[in-house]
Amino acid sequence: MNPPDTIVRLRALLRDSRRITCLTGAGMSTESGIPDFRSTRGLYASGVSEEVFAIRAFERDPGMFYTFARTFLRDTLNAQPNAGHRALAALARLPGKDVRVCTQNIDTLHQAAGSPEVYPLHGTLQTAHCRVCGERTESAALWPEIAAGRVPRHAGCGGVMKPDIVFFGEPLPPDAWEASARAAAAADLFLVAGTSLAVYPAAGLPALRAPACRLVILNRTATPLDGEADLVLHASIAETLEQAIGGG
Ligand code: OAD
Repeated sequence: MNPPDTIVRLRALLRDSRRITCLTGAGMSTESGIPDFRSTRGLYASGVSEEVFAIRAFERDPGMFYTFARTFLRDTLNAQPNAGHRALAALARLPGKDVRVCTQNIDTLHQAAGSPEVYPLHGTLQTAHCRVCGERTESAALWPEIAAGRVPRHAGCGGVMKPDIVFFGEPLPPDAWEASARAAAAADLFLVAGTSLAVYPAAGLPALRAPACRLVILNRTATPLDGEADLVLHASIAETLEQAIGGG
């Protein structure tokens, strides 16, 4: 729960800013039913190993990822945007606001909510490609194989299909990274929402902001940047953004 004066301050910061750049993480989507990674109820605490998202482990044994993906892919592809996603989309529709969303999330819920400028730093789960011939398909088409406990393979060449998400050990998509870095440098307000800021290079984006750019951190738990923020809210993203912006 936010003390009322923090919502008033957040509203004022949003009102007085024109170029608003957001860096979002898994905490943005927990209220859509997708678990985050590092919370006490997150994936890593529930026994999922970081190895599941390591490219070398995927190359060695794609079955490990797909066993995990049986529930994660289903839950993520079925999830709907929450009030937080909708509020950021509503903010972008206000006259005079240029809102960019740099997201580490692979769930495309910002896009589904209608945010016009979204940069998926870790790719998206919507599509997958063949590791051998490179052909792309919708991930939903792979679902019957995954649900049956098999590693999905390309119908023609038999290569293993890999979702178009960034695994540990892979580079970020250059277009999403470059657009995010430009948006960070151009911002007059930088909003960090729902990320522990533990994973680089995404966690380095706030450091690219200009000296006069204000920094707001909206995250249930403390982050390494709380000490340099103009406003810190340790609260629910959906509740807070709904109160500050509306649009839900
Ligand atoms: P984390 O799980 O590390 O951090 C999510 C943060 O969101 C935590 O600090 C929570 O306290 C906070 N949080 C959760 N639900 C919230 C809510 N409803 N309202 C407010 N805050 C909430 O997730 P990320 O920082 O996104 O990478 O993790 C970064 C990367 O690490 C991911 O993209 C993924 C992961 O390993 C790859 O897989 C490559």
